[in-house]
Amino acid sequence: MSKRIGVLTSGGDCAGLNATIRAITYHAKETYGWTVIGIHKGTTGLITRPHEYQEMTIEMCDNAMLRSGGTMIGSTNKDDPFCFPNSDGTKTDRSADFIQGYHDLKLDALIGIGGDGSMRILRKLATQGNLNLVTIPKTIDNDLGHTEIAIGYTTALEVATEALDRLQPTAASHQRVMVLEVMGRDAGHIALGAGVAGGADVILIPEIPYKLDQICKKIKSLASMGRNFSLVIVAESVKKENGEAATVSEDGGRPRYGGIGQYLGEKIQKLTGAETRVTALGHVQRGGQPCAWDRIVASAFGVSAVDLIAANKFDRMVAWQHRQVTNVPIADAIERYQAVELNDILVKTAKSMGIYLGEI
Ligand code: F6P
Repeated sequence: MSKRIGVLTSGGDCAGLNATIRAITYHAKETYGWTVIGIHKGTTGLITRPHEYQEMTIEMCDNAMLRSGGTMIGSTNKDDPFCFPNSDGTKTDRSADFIQGYHDLKLDALIGIGGDGSMRILRKLATQGNLNLVTIPKTIDNDLGHTEIAIGYTTALEVATEALDRLQPTAASHQRVMVLEVMGRDAGHIALGAGVAGGADVILIPEIPYKLDQICKKIKSLASMGRNFSLVIVAESVKKENGEAATVSEDGGRPRYGGIGQYLGEKIQKLTGAETRVTALGHVQRGGQPCAWDRIVASAFGVSAVDLIAANKFDRMVAWQHRQVTNVPIADAIERYQAVELNDILVKTAKSMGIYLGEI
């Protein structure tokens, strides 16, 4: 039976989203002969009148799309349909408009590509409107439960590792301590992975407390062994030593992290006397071409999500487990926040290689 399916990208963008949309479009159209509607600006495209969307064609889904960064249908990490911002600053529950939008476009099912926050909202909408929803995990933070990998994480990891690769020679040339602040929200996956891959001497993640004097001890001991530079990588949500969060503002009730790198840089310079410089990598980790692994995962997830719809299996998230794509209830995926676990192989690896990882 012919179907009309919608696809939307929600939350912070990342590399690999266009590769996912491409795979969905190809498989849905070529294998099943369905119509694919790309909904613009996340959930917003179904709330606004007129609706904002485009019909996806095979011609759009060329090889350039596979390689491109961002999301060609746009995204939002602000316009919560249950608390939708009006132009006068007030907020209104527009969930009914979203549900009506789904019916107006005569959709049989919807694929939502998002992180935990987006999935929570999409699932609430689907439950309220009895909509057929399948989700695909994407987040550079890699903090969704029940999937080993989310789209965007591997590219962010590559970018952060390359940043350390580039900081190392300039650190050595100028005998400096380089502090690199990376994203990751409340999980330390990017910092830990890039720290190991990029040869950091100190890795600080929110899951493990640290002591400033121990960081300085590590830097001084490297100097006493003749090493004239040090590399420190810190996840954005690591707190100051007194437990205070380093934030730049509030965003819809959630903190926007920023500043821990600068804080650490100043302390390290003061306590060790070593000249210190700070780089905050920011959104560079989200933009640009997806790496090979993100393109592979994106393509496999897109195909599997379409197959779930064909099998009439809804309220499920595709997931990567043990070298396979499988699927799990969306509720399970959002229920478990996947931070770095203390028995993680990378925690053991970093510690065993003499990297200072905090008080563990
Ligand atoms: O969740 C993805 C992420 O990039 C986080 O790592 C970061 O804290 C946040 O989004 C930044 O959000 P924004 O794009 O709103 O600044």
